[in-house]
Amino acid sequence: MKKEKLEIIYSLGVILVIPALVALNTILLVRSTRSAFNSELRRKADLVNAVIAEAAKTEVALGNFQELDAKLQKLEESQPAITATSIIREESGKLVIVASSKSASQELDASTELQVKIASERRLPIAKFVNIRNDGQLAQAWNVATPAIDETGNVIAVVSSTILTTDAEEAIDKAFTTSFIVLLVSIVVIIVLLFRHFKLVGNIRLLARQKEINQTMSDFLSVATHELKAPTSIIKGYISNVMDGTFGPINEQIDNQLKTALSQTDRLNGLVQDLLNVSRIEQGRVAYNMTAVDSTKLLVMIIDNYKVFAADKSLELKLETTDTMPLLKCDEGRLQEIFTNLIDNAIKYTKEGSVTITQKAETDSVVTTIKDTGFGMSPDARKRLFQRFYRVQTENTKGISGTGLGLWIIKQYIEAMGGTIEVESMEGVGSEFIVSMPLSKD
Ligand SMILES: Nc1ncnc2c1ncn2[C@@H]1O[C@H](COP(=O)(O)OP(=O)(O)OP(=O)(O)O)[C@@H](O)[C@H]1O
Ligand SMILES: [Mg+2]
Repeated sequence: MKKEKLEIIYSLGVILVIPALVALNTILLVRSTRSAFNSELRRKADLVNAVIAEAAKTEVALGNFQELDAKLQKLEESQPAITATSIIREESGKLVIVASSKSASQELDASTELQVKIASERRLPIAKFVNIRNDGQLAQAWNVATPAIDETGNVIAVVSSTILTTDAEEAIDKAFTTSFIVLLVSIVVIIVLLFRHFKLVGNIRLLARQKEINQTMSDFLSVATHELKAPTSIIKGYISNVMDGTFGPINEQIDNQLKTALSQTDRLNGLVQDLLNVSRIEQGRVAYNMTAVDSTKLLVMIIDNYKVFAADKSLELKLETTDTMPLLKCDEGRLQEIFTNLIDNAIKYTKEGSVTITQKAETDSVVTTIKDTGFGMSPDARKRLFQRFYRVQTENTKGISGTGLGLWIIKQYIEAMGGTIEVESMEGVGSEFIVSMPLSKD
């Protein structure tokens, strides 16, 4: 019990841990990709600004600010991602915008002023990531301030511009949405697969346990039936001896009692024999001595044995076949058991009418049909007919004794010898058992 509990906890653990690990992996991957992408965008923004700074240097030195204005404007028009570019210079200790593109503010805000000052002091580009409004829409961008340094090493101006990352962000978002969808689907699939896996493992264990139980049952059956066989034979022997008058004469009353005892011992013997057969089949201990068998001859003999039984019930028992029926390849003893069982059933479960056995030769088999005008059975009963211990429970079958093993046993024999058995039946009309056995090729 403790072991099973631990196994359930382990299974649930695996079911939770594996998808969680997959999710964590995707989230970390998404995060690191986003950050790598961001650094790359920043590097690009730095590069763009450095190019502008380099290009603006001569114009700033010459004081051609109007021309610079026009150039920055042109740049903004042709490259919409580069916006709000201004060239800022220190004049009399104050920072002044000397040229700018159209979208740039003419006033320096505190944050940009600080950024420009730091860039100028450190002589390095300074970037900050900002959320801005572009064409009325919220957008993300890199705000970069890049110093323009002349040949003598002086910072002559600082270029400030805003490089929009909208397009790249959109692409990243799209990729991430796709990966999250894939992640979700994978998690669902993993959970389903894991559930199925654990169910499968459970089923395999159950099957192994079932096999163990079956083996124990089979062993028990084998020992019990062997032990039962000897005493029943001895009892039968003693009853026969008493009936034969071996121990002195007996009166009619005792004779009648002994007859009942003998028939009940026969019944017990039949049961022991059936159980022995089941045990042999299950343990694969049935030997089949396959020879060429004359099935017609066998049927004539069996029918002869059953004549009295059929006549007792006023049933017509007939065989429709030819003397030239081809030989079958099978074990003669088993085939006798098969036909005996089916004819026994046909007579046993028929109140009036007839039992007809017909034979027909096919290309590679002989089909023997045992047809009766008996109780028949429901479609549901027909489906369960070949199960072990199954007996049809109706008013008609109430007083008829049997173990429900006969049909199961003969089906195993038939199939082991390469044949088939089928049944057709209708309640209140009768049944038909069709046995097809392969021909002997000799
Ligand atoms: N010809 C038949 N007509 C109607 N019912 C049948 C017929 N043959 C078999 N059955 C039904 O199928 C059940 C199973 O048959 P099966 O021969 O396996 O067992 P059984 O006759 O009860 O016992 P036994 O093992 O002694 O033969 C029977 O109990 C009976 O209800
Ligand atoms: Mg039977």
